Amino acid sequence: MDIDELLSRYPRDVDLKPDGKVTIRVMDRSDRDAVLAFARSLPEEDLLFLRTDLTEESVVDEWFDAIDNGLTTSLIAYEGDATAGYATVHRTKARWTRRVGEIRVNVGPEYRSRGLGRNLTAQIFDIANALGLMKLMANMTADQIGAQAAFRRLGFTPEAMLGDFVEDRDGRPRDLVMMTYDMDGLSSQAGEPLRGL
Ligand SMILES: CC(C)(COP(=O)(O)OP(=O)(O)OC[C@H]1O[C@@H](n2cnc3c(N)ncnc32)[C@H](O)[C@@H]1OP(=O)(O)O)[C@@H](O)C(=O)NCCC(=O)NCCS
Repeated sequence: MDIDELLSRYPRDVDLKPDGKVTIRVMDRSDRDAVLAFARSLPEEDLLFLRTDLTEESVVDEWFDAIDNGLTTSLIAYEGDATAGYATVHRTKARWTRRVGEIRVNVGPEYRSRGLGRNLTAQIFDIANALGLMKLMANMTADQIGAQAAFRRLGFTPEAMLGDFVEDRDGRPRDLVMMTYDMDGLSSQAGEPLRGL
C-alpha cells in the first residue's frame, strides 16, 4: 500500500490487555512536549539503547526535523492525555543503506506486557514495508533482557554485540545488542492481525 494512503488511516484505536484503549496517531510537532515529558519520565535503562539523549530538548527537536524531512516516521499512543508509548522507523539518505531502517519502540512502564509494543511494532512494520525497506534493525543494551525477549517474540534475531558501546550516566560501560528482522514475511509474522486493517 502507498505510504500516504497508509498514514491517512490514522488515528486509530487499539485495545490493551486486559482492558483499556489507546489512540495511535502519526507523530507531528504538536506531540513535541508530550515526547519530551514521556522521555523524562522513563528510567535511564530504557533510554540507553538510543544513540542520543532523548531527555534533551534539542535532541527531540532533531527528531521532529527528521520527521519533517521524511527520514523518520513515528507513531505515538495516547490514553487520554497520557503518553503510553511510541514507535519510530528511521532511514538514512545514503543509497546503499536506503533499504535498512532502524526501529525504536518505547512503551511506558505501566503499559508494558499489555500488547502495545507488539501492536506498535506491527504498525511500524507496515509503514516500513510501504517505505520499501527490506531490513529492520533494533538496538538495546545487553542487560535489557526483557526487551530482547520481547523482540525475539516479535521475530527479531540478534545479529551483533558491540562491546562497551554505551556508557550510562555513572560512566559504567554497557554492551549493545543489535537485533535485525528481514522484511520478507512482512507484518503478519510480527504482529497479530490488526483490527480495522
Ligand atoms: C520492548 C518493549 C517495547 C515491549 O513492549 P510491550 O508493550 O511490553 O510488549 P508486548 O506486551 O506487546 O509484548 C510483545 C511480546 O514480547 C513478550 N514480552 C514482553 N515483555 C517481555 C519480557 N519482559 N520478557 C519476555 N517476554 C516479553 C510478550 O509476551 C509478547 O509476546 P507474545 O505476544 O507472543 O506473548 C518494552 O518493554 C519497552 O518499551 N522497553 C524499553 C525500551 C526498549 O528497550 N526498546 C527496545 C529497543 S527498540
